[in-house]
Amino acid sequence: MRQQLVDKFLEIYGEGDAVHVYFAPGRINLIGEHTDYNGGHVFPCAITVGTYAAARRRADTDIRLYSLNYSETGMVKASLGDLDYRQKDGWGNYPKGVIRTFTNKGCRIPHGLDILYYGDIPKGLGIGSSASIEVVTGLILKELEGLSDVNMVDIALFSQLSENEYIGAGSGIMDPFAIAMGKKDHAIFLDTSDLSYIYAPLRLPHEKIIITNSQKARLAVDERYQERRSQCRQALEELQRVIAIRDLGELTAEVFEQVQEMIESPVRLRRARHAVTENQRTIQAVEALKRGDIEEFGQLMNASHLSLKEDYEVSCEELDILVEEAWEIEGVLGSRMMGAGFGGCTVSIVRNSAVNEFISKVGQNYEKRTGFCAEFYVVETGNGATVL
Ligand code: GLA
Repeated sequence: MRQQLVDKFLEIYGEGDAVHVYFAPGRINLIGEHTDYNGGHVFPCAITVGTYAAARRRADTDIRLYSLNYSETGMVKASLGDLDYRQKDGWGNYPKGVIRTFTNKGCRIPHGLDILYYGDIPKGLGIGSSASIEVVTGLILKELEGLSDVNMVDIALFSQLSENEYIGAGSGIMDPFAIAMGKKDHAIFLDTSDLSYIYAPLRLPHEKIIITNSQKARLAVDERYQERRSQCRQALEELQRVIAIRDLGELTAEVFEQVQEMIESPVRLRRARHAVTENQRTIQAVEALKRGDIEEFGQLMNASHLSLKEDYEVSCEELDILVEEAWEIEGVLGSRMMGAGFGGCTVSIVRNSAVNEFISKVGQNYEKRTGFCAEFYVVETGNGATVL
C-alpha cells in the first residue's frame, strides 16, 4: 500500500522532496453508546481498515488535497491564508477544517502541503471515516510542520473541535480519541468527563467481532443526534436543581432513581435514563471482561441495544431485525446497534464455531424480512494513527 500510494502521489503532484506516508484507522465501539457527550464512559477500539495519506511539504503556503475515493471532486485547492469552508470542496473540508483548527489553536504552520488520501473503510457504516481523515491530517501537521508540542490526544481534541465548529456536526470525542490512541488487541476504556483512560486487553481467541452493515442509509442522523444531545442537556439542567452534578455520567442508576422525578417530560426521562444506565453497563462490561466473563459482556451489549431502542430511540427497524436474528443464533454472545444509529451497522461477538451460521442465517432472514442485503465484516483490532 505504501509504495502504491507514493507512486500515485508522484503521478499527481510530480517529483520533488521525500514523500511521507501516514495511516489513521477507523473505529468500532463495543459498548458505551451516546455516552461520550454525557460525560460517560465508552469502550471503542481501533480497527485495521482506515485512511492512508501520502504527504509532502510545499515551498509556498498552498494546500493541495486529493482523494482516490472522491476523484470526481478533483483536486481541492486552498492555502494557509484561505481555509474557508466551501460546499464544492466536499470531503476536502474535513482536512481544511483540521488545518484551520490547528492554526486557531496557535500552532505555527509555515509550509503548505500536498496530500493524497486513500481510505479502505466501507462507506455508510458509521465507523469513523471522517474522524479518520481528520486524525491523519492532524498527524501530518504534527510531523511535517514540526509541531512537537502537539500530542495524539491534542490531535483527537482538535479533530473533534474541527468537526463541531468547522464542519458543524455535533459529534463527541469517542471517534477521534479511539482513532488517535488505539492499540492492537486492546479496547480503550475512556472516561469522557476527563479523558482519563486505560487500555483493556481484548484477546478473543474463541470469538470474532463482526460488523454487519444494514445497508439502511442513515437518514437525518445529524438532526436527530443533535436532538438527543439537547434533550440530555435539558434533563441535566432539571436534575441540577436538586443535585450538584456536571454530567449525567456522574449518576449511578440508584441515585438517578431518587432524583428522576425532577425531569418533567417522559421523553427526556427516557433519554437521561439511557445515558445513565449505558454508562453503568459500560463500567460493568469492562469489569466482566477483566474477569474473562465474555458471556456477561455479551449480555450487557444486548441490554445496551434494548436501551438504545426503547429509551434513546436511535435504532430503526432494520437494525432491530439484524439484532433479533443475531440473538437467535447459539454462539452469539452479544449483538447491538453501533454508533449514532438510525441505520448503519451492528456489532456482534460471535463464537468462531458459529460465524458461518451467523453470516448465512442472519443474512438470509434479514433479506427476507427487509429486502436489504446485509454485508458482514469480521474485524481485527489495530493500532491508532501512525507514520508508516
Ligand atoms: C457518533 C459520534 C460519536 C458518538 C456516537 C454514539 O458516532 O461521532 O461521538 O456520540 O455517535 O455513541
